[in-house]
Amino acid sequence: MEEIAALAKRRGFIFQSSEIYGGINGFWDYGPLGAILKRNVKQAWWRETVELRDDVVGFDAAIVMHPLTWKASGHVDAFHDQLVDCKVCKHRFRFDHLKDASKCPDCGSKDSFTEPRNFSLMMKTFVGPMEDTSAETYLRPETAQGIFVNFKNIYQTTRRRPPFGVAQIGKSFRNEITPGNFTFRVREFEQAELEFFVPDDGKDMDAFREWVDRRKAWYSNYGIRSERLRFYELTDSERPHYARAGVDVEYAFPWGWGELESIAHRGTYDLEAHMKVSGKDLQFFDEASKTHYTPLLIESSAGMDRTALTFLIDAYERETSVDPNGKETERTVLRFHPSIAPVQVAVFSLARNKPELVERARRIEAGLRPGFRTQYDEGNIGQLYRRQDEIGTPFCVTVDYETLADGSVTVRSRDSMLQDRISAETLEAHLRDRL
Ligand code: GAP
Repeated sequence: MEEIAALAKRRGFIFQSSEIYGGINGFWDYGPLGAILKRNVKQAWWRETVELRDDVVGFDAAIVMHPLTWKASGHVDAFHDQLVDCKVCKHRFRFDHLKDASKCPDCGSKDSFTEPRNFSLMMKTFVGPMEDTSAETYLRPETAQGIFVNFKNIYQTTRRRPPFGVAQIGKSFRNEITPGNFTFRVREFEQAELEFFVPDDGKDMDAFREWVDRRKAWYSNYGIRSERLRFYELTDSERPHYARAGVDVEYAFPWGWGELESIAHRGTYDLEAHMKVSGKDLQFFDEASKTHYTPLLIESSAGMDRTALTFLIDAYERETSVDPNGKETERTVLRFHPSIAPVQVAVFSLARNKPELVERARRIEAGLRPGFRTQYDEGNIGQLYRRQDEIGTPFCVTVDYETLADGSVTVRSRDSMLQDRISAETLEAHLRDRL
């Protein structure tokens, strides 16, 4: 994990937030490559959850909502973790994270913990010029509630009837007691949430299973290793009382299994909670049968920062190979799926002091830019390959003296390290085919 975090910093994927002031715990910034990586992960989710389906619409709610939202959802009363302090070393722990509740994992003291206390995970903020309680609200701890309170607006304006879904990607905030494991547990993060509303017609569990299968297929389509992924079925006692089924998607992180996503059958709980507190009708009115009913809800909620981190970890490899001269070399490579890789094709000029080569390589790179995520570079070819391997670029194209003579370029594959000589004329089609 340390190696991956070091690479993430060195190559501009992820930086500590406000680093020059010593950082702030639980917050991270995405550098130029990290910003593209996370955007690609979100786009892959959006593409398959919204754009390629005819039964899901997109949504984008405000982060700050009316404070009663959080009363109705149960967050104000129940969204907390239990914390304990060690009276000897003064360190603070999440009670449910302790392996041994009688021994401090940091200083080893016995029976040194305070009684567990509830700690709200809600991040408070004030709206308007008065910092009194009437102006007090929260930064949302999940994006889902924006969809629930808008359920009627959405189905009426889009003329949808259950089964249909509403999808949203956006920031959420939780005042985690112990942020850690790089970007795994943070205080500001992005969620991609799908709320799929179904009628109570006996087929709701089929809809739940179908979404579990779709999410399985999504991770596999984008190359996450299946042996590092598990779909954990929650038992009755592990689920909230209103949930009829639940599956946690977990990945084998370097520190152990960690949750990437939760998929839940939440019954009518959320819509009913808002109807009760707001006094407004959020039921679905079925024109055909002239009946009102509260649809059941299937939710898939994935953390985009955790998923981006998963792609980074899953793609990471260090390998030793033997070059044609019999010399052993080591390289670090990120084997990203082409849709996830921040750069898809790098184009090099073999020499930086030969204007004809530079000009030709730049022209080829500019020609590829509308169709691929590209990067131009020049200099020592071995170093250029190493750099691109480290950021996960699937293909490198090199322009050399032969290019000037016969119009051919070298295409080198990140994964096989094999090189093909092909005509620059057919380069775009060649790359499209291989990517
Ligand atoms: N609306 C349901 C919901 O929010 P959740 O299991 O609390 O469910 C869903 O959160 C996902 O959001 C998690 O599986 C995780 O990927 C992400 N997530 C939650 N808390 C997080 C945190 N502190 N840091 C990073 N990601 C987090």
